[in-house]
Amino acid sequence: MALLEIRHLDISYGSRVTVSDFNLTLEKGRICSIVGESGSGKTTVIRAVLGLIAGGGKVTAGDITYEGRSLLSLTDKEWRDLRGHDISMIFQDSGAMMNQTRKIGGSYVEYIRTHEAVGSGEAWEKGTEMLGRMRLPDPDRIMRSYPFQLSGGQRQRVGIAMGMTYQPRLLLADEPTSALDVTTQAQIVRQMMELRDEYGTSIIIVTHDLGVASYMADYIVVMKDGKIEDQGSRSHILNESVNAYTRKLLNAVPSLGGKRYV
Ligand SMILES: Nc1ncnc2c1ncn2[C@@H]1O[C@H](COP(=O)(O)OP(=O)(O)O)[C@@H](O)[C@H]1O
Ligand SMILES: [Mg+2]
Repeated sequence: MALLEIRHLDISYGSRVTVSDFNLTLEKGRICSIVGESGSGKTTVIRAVLGLIAGGGKVTAGDITYEGRSLLSLTDKEWRDLRGHDISMIFQDSGAMMNQTRKIGGSYVEYIRTHEAVGSGEAWEKGTEMLGRMRLPDPDRIMRSYPFQLSGGQRQRVGIAMGMTYQPRLLLADEPTSALDVTTQAQIVRQMMELRDEYGTSIIIVTHDLGVASYMADYIVVMKDGKIEDQGSRSHILNESVNAYTRKLLNAVPSLGGKRYV
């Protein structure tokens, strides 16, 4: 059984159909990338997987199953058990999602304590350990810093650390490298791939950058105007696809020909 199955998914904001007939099968340990220009519906799709479509958005048709169980009819309690533990998400700029007036440690401790019944001391240790595992130098200092005292790359690593605290089986990453410079992008991309290699995490990475997608993904879905425009294995998309829109996206990645994917 696939880890995640999305079947004939339609999503609307109010009466406006935003995503239609989206399909995806994701096996354990695989990395899928959803690419497409801004507004094509990428964020809407992965937020739907986590049951967190923004303001007024609703799944109007189709199904999303995780290990064979539909996610569309979960209770709040069932979601609390699943989110963070089995499925977690990292955002484009984790720093912006953090409470700017609290130190990282305070936010991390709170995050851990909403997911398990532990004391603050134990939560602090766990957070510090995760930061170290994400190769953040001097995790103690990071825990005692405010978000604005860290670089974009450091904040993004904190976001990834939080997302990985419970070694989720499915990681949803929404443009996790877009806010970063090229060198830091490459580090974050490698780090996510290590998660897959070490823990067998399945990953859906949303990006408008086909370079990042080509570097990371086993499977690529190209979205346009809320629909799947093209899809296939990475080598199919890169080498064989004759879809005009895919070719256009590929041509827009200057470094791709030189194999410098990120
Ligand atoms: N909360 C919302 N309310 C209404 N429309 C939205 C909302 N979020 C996104 N949309 C619309 O849905 C479409 C897809 O958006 P989105 O999923 O964010 O695309 P992408 O992530 O590919 O840029 C866009 O036209 C956007 O304006
Ligand atoms: Mg988006």
